[in-house]
Amino acid sequence: MPFPIEERYDLGHLVTFVPNKKVRIHNWFYFKEGFSRDFVLLMMNWLRIRANSTILDPFCGVGTTLLASKEVGVNAIGVDASPLAVFVTQVKTEDYDLDRIRSSARELFSKKSERHDIKGLSDLIKKAFSKPSLHDILFFKEEIRRMEDPRIRNFFTLALMNSANRVTYAYKDGSVIKIVKKPPIPLKKVFKRTVKRMIHDLKKADYKGSETEVYLGDARRMDFLPDDSFDAVITSPPYLNKIEYERVYSIEYELFFEDVKVDSLRSYIGLNPKHITDLYPDQRLPEIARAYLQDMNDAIKEIYRVMKKNAKCAMVVAEGAFPDVIVPVDILVADLAEKIGFDVEKIVVANRRVVTRDRTVKIGRARESIVIMKK
Ligand SMILES: C[S@@+](CC[C@H](N)C(=O)[O-])C[C@H]1O[C@@H](n2cnc3c(N)ncnc32)[C@H](O)[C@@H]1O
Repeated sequence: MPFPIEERYDLGHLVTFVPNKKVRIHNWFYFKEGFSRDFVLLMMNWLRIRANSTILDPFCGVGTTLLASKEVGVNAIGVDASPLAVFVTQVKTEDYDLDRIRSSARELFSKKSERHDIKGLSDLIKKAFSKPSLHDILFFKEEIRRMEDPRIRNFFTLALMNSANRVTYAYKDGSVIKIVKKPPIPLKKVFKRTVKRMIHDLKKADYKGSETEVYLGDARRMDFLPDDSFDAVITSPPYLNKIEYERVYSIEYELFFEDVKVDSLRSYIGLNPKHITDLYPDQRLPEIARAYLQDMNDAIKEIYRVMKKNAKCAMVVAEGAFPDVIVPVDILVADLAEKIGFDVEKIVVANRRVVTRDRTVKIGRARESIVIMKK
């Protein structure tokens, strides 16, 4: 399975979410697992996407591919198994009536905040916020819930979620949440500023009238999408053994999605230990790598089915590091893709990260790569 390999470490930064921190609307929710808007624009260029094309991102996360497509007038569809990711994508790619948002904001901030009962909340939530912040979050949440228009309600919910993330004592460290006390920041002030900034972002946005849709679903079973329908796929599935689960978003889920049953874990790539591949019998692969590759095989088959003939796919994947072995996911994914029928054009290595065990012992270096393939 030798594939052409190109080293492009200058792209290392682009396959992370970091550049999005400075890009309006993309930065409405920080998503560590995401890639950047500029990466999507570069891939559109590599894959020669034209204005009336339709792109699919079957692991769309917080909608970087969809929003970048909307910005340049390309149609895009996203799928994700996480209700939180789908919600964020929806809010970021929606069309809004700015006057209605402004008048809702005036009404919302003219109300006098009331104390709320926090007894029923988990210990994590109680530790994660100062009491005044928690009362304010619950107060605003209740007021937002009363808003009639679901689009406006979702807009303010994301603004409140963003603001809660700014004032919280909790921070996401890999797959765990840590609590670090700091001087309390008044939530209402942060929330007002966030809403103002988001309205400003929308005012500056200059869309070209393309269509954007996002679905809660499973990339391995996209029955709702017809065969041979997409001009390109730009995507990044979860990384092997870096699957940070929905657990790190448990504060967001408890505060803002109490009605959502978090069963998305079941459909999350690589999490079914019984569903393991018998491909590559001679490779030394940990069980979880076999489970991951089996799911990736199913997803790549679906991606192949929905792409048009000659359409291209750019998929960002990373090698998985285990104490005694580094699994070459980029090469294995390229091999699976060829077995399914893709023509793999090249593997572009964007990063070689140092991998450590217990944060001190160096295991080796893991590649983060873009696999470019054609149907
Ligand atoms: C690396 S992230 C993608 C981030 C995205 N590129 C962005 O910029 O926001 C991988 C995503 O795959 C989603 N995911 C995991 N299993 C899935 C499945 N079976 N079907 C669809 N999405 C899935 C996760 O919820 C996560 O949002």
